Amino acid sequence: MLKAENIHAAYGSSQVLFGVDLELREGQLVAMMGRNGMGKTTTVRAITGLTPPSSGTITLDGRDVTRLKPHQIGQAGVALVPEGRQIFPTLTVRENLIATERHRRETTQQWTLERVFDLFPRLRERASQMGDSLSGGEQQMLAIGRALLTNPRLLILDEATEGLAPLIRHEIWEVLAGLKAEGQTILVIDKNLDEMAVVADYAYVVLKGRIAWQGDVEAMRATPDFAETYLGV
Ligand SMILES: Nc1ncnc2c1ncn2[C@@H]1O[C@H](COP(=O)(O)OP(=O)(O)OP(=O)(O)O)[C@@H](O)[C@H]1O
Ligand SMILES: [Mg+2]
Repeated sequence: MLKAENIHAAYGSSQVLFGVDLELREGQLVAMMGRNGMGKTTTVRAITGLTPPSSGTITLDGRDVTRLKPHQIGQAGVALVPEGRQIFPTLTVRENLIATERHRRETTQQWTLERVFDLFPRLRERASQMGDSLSGGEQQMLAIGRALLTNPRLLILDEATEGLAPLIRHEIWEVLAGLKAEGQTILVIDKNLDEMAVVADYAYVVLKGRIAWQGDVEAMRATPDFAETYLGV
């Protein structure tokens, strides 16, 4: 579904990505891992048009989307749950959820507010509260719900469970597993190897702007000192 080939990207004169290749098939949950500052966020910024690649090609369902603007890539079916969540603090939960409505992709299987509230009942209870009154976990649920309401072909989460309590982390991973079971294609950045290994079909490790390792969870487990070598844990 998504293919990124030989992606180079820079912030001004500082080059960060040096030829990233990445592929997701329909219905897969693919993980992207790596230590701090290695280029994970920059890779998803390149895919979503926020930091357009200086060279390389990104195709979505065979269509070249490399030079499209972020909102056009959104309409093409890529939704990002950004690092830090970036919810609107002075809008209510309901307003946050419908804020991206105009970027919705038309599909036969539309996400609705009710469906998001069924997925995250806590958001229904807090529908009229301001975004900044939510806990970190609730804000992440809100960010995921907002992304789903655009009816994405590909859902990308940058730091899916960063900074959240273990129970909430687990809840988020359960939701991701449920979405995958419904056929949602997902690219997830997270440092939580154990939870990730339960649901991921495939994983990439980004190291200094390049893909340093890729494989399925079995191959990961068969790689000696995987976490120490690639994640520094
Ligand atoms: N806006 C920016 N301007 C300049 N340099 C940046 C900018 N954003 C990130 N960088 C640099 O690019 C490199 C890659 O950063 P990136 O955010 O992609 O890493 P990451 O793998 O997502 O890290 P983390 O795990 O901390 O989120 C780092 O050296 C970082 O300092
Ligand atoms: Mg990052």
